[in-house]
Amino acid sequence: MCGIVGYVGNSLAWNILLGGLKKLEYRGYDSAGMAVIHEGRLNITRVNGKICALGECLETDPLPGVIGIGHTRWATHGKPCTVNAHPHRAGRVAVVHNGIIENYMDLKNSLTSSGSCFQSETDTEVIAQLLNHHLDLGAEPLDAIQQSCKTLRGSFAAGILIEDDPENLYAIRKESPLIIGIGEGETFLASDAPAILAHTSRMIFMDDGQIAVLNRRGVLLRDFNGTAVKKTVRKMTISPSMAEKGGWKHFMIKEIFEQPRAVADTFRGRICEETGAISLDGLKLTDREAKEVERIVIVACGTSYHAGLVARRMIEDLTRIPVEVDIASEFRYRDPIIGPNTLLISISQSGETADTLAATREAAMRGAKVISVCNVIESSLARSSSHGVIYTQAGPEIGVASTKAFTTQIATLYLFAIYMAWKRDSINSEKRLQLVKDLVHLPGLMTEALAASNKIAELAEYLERFPNFLYLGRGIDTAIAYEGALKLKEISYIHAEAYAGGEMKHGPIALISEEMPVVVILSPNHVYEKMLGNIQEVRSRGGIVVAVCAGEEDPKVAGLAQAIIRVPASNQYLTSIQLTLPLQLLAYYVADLKGTDVDQPRNLAKSVTVE
Ligand code: M6R
Repeated sequence: MCGIVGYVGNSLAWNILLGGLKKLEYRGYDSAGMAVIHEGRLNITRVNGKICALGECLETDPLPGVIGIGHTRWATHGKPCTVNAHPHRAGRVAVVHNGIIENYMDLKNSLTSSGSCFQSETDTEVIAQLLNHHLDLGAEPLDAIQQSCKTLRGSFAAGILIEDDPENLYAIRKESPLIIGIGEGETFLASDAPAILAHTSRMIFMDDGQIAVLNRRGVLLRDFNGTAVKKTVRKMTISPSMAEKGGWKHFMIKEIFEQPRAVADTFRGRICEETGAISLDGLKLTDREAKEVERIVIVACGTSYHAGLVARRMIEDLTRIPVEVDIASEFRYRDPIIGPNTLLISISQSGETADTLAATREAAMRGAKVISVCNVIESSLARSSSHGVIYTQAGPEIGVASTKAFTTQIATLYLFAIYMAWKRDSINSEKRLQLVKDLVHLPGLMTEALAASNKIAELAEYLERFPNFLYLGRGIDTAIAYEGALKLKEISYIHAEAYAGGEMKHGPIALISEEMPVVVILSPNHVYEKMLGNIQEVRSRGGIVVAVCAGEEDPKVAGLAQAIIRVPASNQYLTSIQLTLPLQLLAYYVADLKGTDVDQPRNLAKSVTVE
């Protein structure tokens, strides 16, 4: 996730662009830059670091000109540094981009063999090089853009400047947001409304497959074939602070609803639907090393630890490699057994959690091969992982309660499990293909699952009064129960505990009374009947059963549970993602009703960099 702004009008562009970028900083903040055309010349300023660093640079050395584009980056391809910062320039073209170009490697190779000279490690630069290539061959700007859009695969929202076309700013959109603001004698471009809301409330929301030509007179919209498209201007009524969260009340709920996109981005460009092949570009494990792994140890904290528990089941089932999962703060202080063929997987959203870093160092010192699953490019964890890093593509997670990081961690580890099974021949190609196809359908199913949101909000009104909750699951769903309970306690401050269903009789059953809501996670798997047994046990002691189920309706559940939330099922591993979504929503709505500080709950920090 990155932030884009653009401006064409009569005022100094850099000032307006900088103001816009500050409003988009939540979309990424590892580097920033700006391009402005002045007196027929394209000038670019880029910095490694936050937008304030770009501001300082421009205060001392402003970029004159009344047409420009700006960018704040959240690195996906290529580490954060000035050379990888946007705008990217090729000849007379400058581009800012948000999204992922899936076929960038193929395009880079073919453009390089036609003489293009690449400067950065980014996927974005191929857009600039491709456009410049078409312009050099004599295409008009719009033709060059149309041809390029048809060649690019993946997701892109981009702003484009062409040096010898100083009146027009171009924009393209496919599967990444882009908004045009209409002013008086000036036109704006942004990834999100808050960036331009201070200047205009009249906006056009570009659709997928559209090209826009912005100038002082307004905007023209075309599709990728060049056919004119009707534009609908909407008057925005939201306040700038609401707009920062995309109209959502909190970042957490925004991030919950971003999950289908985040999961799709996580497998984008990494799978082949036709063959079931998987490519994990950051993984530096040779095929031989993959075959030699004898044991896997996963270390992580909090929500990332729960993702590790889900991963254990996926990896063991598919690869038959024994997996242990340890809380990082425990692992670092025991005397862990690490052999030369032990693979350590560290999971961390931030990549800066002190305990996870220490546990990783400890394992590496004892000779483990280390890979990490991380959301922040070039974080300390990513840099210390000898055998590579697989990035989740959740984009910046602002809410302290982890939501999209968790589901993208599961999706990433699912890819890893299939990859290892493939390399070790522990599953056949039909099975691999099916597992990959299931992943492709997942974002759509997640969107369906999120449609239960209103029902869950109503349920929260009833449940909010109870001071204690119990969560139960079995198998993978035990980890989901842990995660559900953690979400509720960290943002609503309600006491919640989670157990494996089979443990009920060994203690927790004593807690059951009419005052105890029990959230039961129910997957259509081989322990389904056992979970029904647990529900019976709760009901016969007067407990309040909230059943969170996947798959077909079941009259047996209807007869036992006071409330049922149902989501579509996928395969047993991906269903865990589906079942997480209602639990996140339940925690959110309960916390919101209680009026807590949802995005920054008391006593917590987003990144726990101290022990
Ligand atoms: O950045 P990390 O994934 O290493 O963070 C680990 C935990 O601190 C984190 O998951 C924490 O438990 C969240 N607040 C849970 O929502």
